[in-house]
Amino acid sequence: MSNEQQPRLYYPSEEMVKNAAVSGMDAYRALCKEAEDDYEGYWARQARELVEWKKPFTQVLDESNAPFFKWFADGQLNVSYNCLDRNVNNGLGDKVALIFEADGGDVTRITYKDLLTRVCKFSNALRAMGVKKGDRVVIYLPMSIEGVVAMQACARIGATHSIVFGGFSAQALRDRINDAGAVALITSDGQFRGGKALPLKPIADEALGMGGCECIKNVVVVQRTGAACNMVEGRDKWFHEVCASQADTCEPEWVDAEHPLFLLYTSGSTGKPKGVQHSTGGYLLHAILTMKWTFDIKPNDVFWCTADIGWVTGHTYITYGPLACGATEIVFEGVPTYPDAGRFWKMIQDHKVSIFYTAPTAIRSLIKAADNTPTVHPKNYDLSSLRILGSVGEPINPAAWEWYYQNVGGSRCPIVDTFWQTETGGHMITPLPGATPLVPGSCTLPFPGIIAAVVDETGTEVPNGQGGILVVKRPWPAMIRTIWGDPDRFKKSYYPDDFKGKLYLAGDGAIRDKETGYFTITGRIDDVLNVSGHRMGTMEIESALVAHEKVAEAAVVGRPDDLTGEAIVAFVVLKGARPTGEDAKAMIKDLQNWVGHEIGPIAKPKDIRFGENLPKTRSGKIMRRLLRQLAKGEEITQDTSTLENPAILDQLKQPAG
Ligand code: WTA
Repeated sequence: MSNEQQPRLYYPSEEMVKNAAVSGMDAYRALCKEAEDDYEGYWARQARELVEWKKPFTQVLDESNAPFFKWFADGQLNVSYNCLDRNVNNGLGDKVALIFEADGGDVTRITYKDLLTRVCKFSNALRAMGVKKGDRVVIYLPMSIEGVVAMQACARIGATHSIVFGGFSAQALRDRINDAGAVALITSDGQFRGGKALPLKPIADEALGMGGCECIKNVVVVQRTGAACNMVEGRDKWFHEVCASQADTCEPEWVDAEHPLFLLYTSGSTGKPKGVQHSTGGYLLHAILTMKWTFDIKPNDVFWCTADIGWVTGHTYITYGPLACGATEIVFEGVPTYPDAGRFWKMIQDHKVSIFYTAPTAIRSLIKAADNTPTVHPKNYDLSSLRILGSVGEPINPAAWEWYYQNVGGSRCPIVDTFWQTETGGHMITPLPGATPLVPGSCTLPFPGIIAAVVDETGTEVPNGQGGILVVKRPWPAMIRTIWGDPDRFKKSYYPDDFKGKLYLAGDGAIRDKETGYFTITGRIDDVLNVSGHRMGTMEIESALVAHEKVAEAAVVGRPDDLTGEAIVAFVVLKGARPTGEDAKAMIKDLQNWVGHEIGPIAKPKDIRFGENLPKTRSGKIMRRLLRQLAKGEEITQDTSTLENPAILDQLKQPAG
């Protein structure tokens, strides 16, 4: 290998190594070895040390009904107790838990004591409405203190929450409420984003009016924008009113470790989103452990995860992990570009953020903004409080990594590039800041106790340097338990027969470096796209497109995009004639809005092309491989003789219009 090909390694500073929870590579290897030698003993030790149990567990891993694994099954606990009461009891009552910064810049600080009181009041309010252990509660809220309170309150009374991202449409909300059979919906009148007040309750009303949401008995509305709301008598109530009369203490519901803490819907390779079901004990353990080791959280840190609570990152690294560690964290309502693209840097400066966790898409857009407008470049801000940076959601390209490292981290802060998924509950493959030498673009090595590997189609491990399929060889405490209401789909999606039901299939491709064994994620191997770090199923978008009255057929693929990682390209056959010129332009707008309305703005195809047909084999199968090449603008060099209709390719080459 020439020098140029050799990736540069970035080592942690001596000071970082000295003070880190996992100090140096020997310490990392010792933990991995402990887990390999006595897998259950390792996890049991962590669970006893880090989680406060009401009733200690005696069983660790139960594999008797694989792949429906159970962890710590006879133990009992409460997540909200672990996040709030435990810290208040340990003298952290007056410590700031949440620093909420509103879109417009107002800052509210909530101590652990305040947060506990708010959670207790809302827990009591939910109980007063008849919400009980095991009931599902859908939360459709913007980034807010109430969002965290609502999640914690559900956890406190043993209700299983299911958050629907505030950017999802009425249809998406309706489908999730219906699938979960939720008894209550918690939403707000609206939300502020980028200086604008946007409605939310009207979308919830639309969803509830669609049919299929009859299970919802109570709707609780947080007042945020002050917009007028249509409140249905007997069903709809204001959040502040239901809380006002409630007592400020609330006995937690002690639940079994396997009790479902939450469902979170995510995209898979079929049209229907799947309700990923998480446990209580194992999930909480991994949230705490990764906060301690990946983020090296310390009492004086100010932690900021910029994700929305609507995604799993916001669950584990806003609502649960930081609070369970007694940390001070930022909750941000707004967007990174308002009032200008220096907002993140200004907030890091103002709040003296020490650990900052964001997505590559955000970094790439802020690089572009700083190139165009020098005043929003991070060098104009005092970012000296930072000590650790994180990245999540998609592969981070080395150029963005370098920029983040130098300009945000001052070439001083390790970047933890954390690979994980909604299904995994927390970090799976990630550097540890005081141990792992970094390579830009690589998520490096598995978290201690996570046994990851790269295999071929038969499940056999491939040599380093050869790409393959990413799998996890042993069940881990925070893993998905099932898909809500669809255990068969759970088995087929994650423990397929191809691997004899023994390996967890992540759905990503990966390659390990020949020398270091470091993992690099090469992208999804199924029909899931990653647009700005958001998971979208191609089939979901296709279903939305064909639901349009003028669409006969549609195929959706991804294409690499400098800013969003991947961009959505749709190939569409209309029922009428193939549109051209202005007609095509109008139709594109129409279809983009349609998809925005069916799923949400994040699912809008960036590029739509019209053909009289789609390229198909003689047996009628759509040749997606060709569509991917067309989407990228590549010349089709391969043999297209098996195509039934080769002339179609010319029609689909160019963006329409
Ligand atoms: C991708 C987000 C490369 C991957 C926590 C995965 C990543 C999907 C990384 C899960 C990373 C996430 N490097 N790819 N550091 N993190 N991904 O469920 O394709 O929204 O399968 O969970 O995002 O997305 P999800």
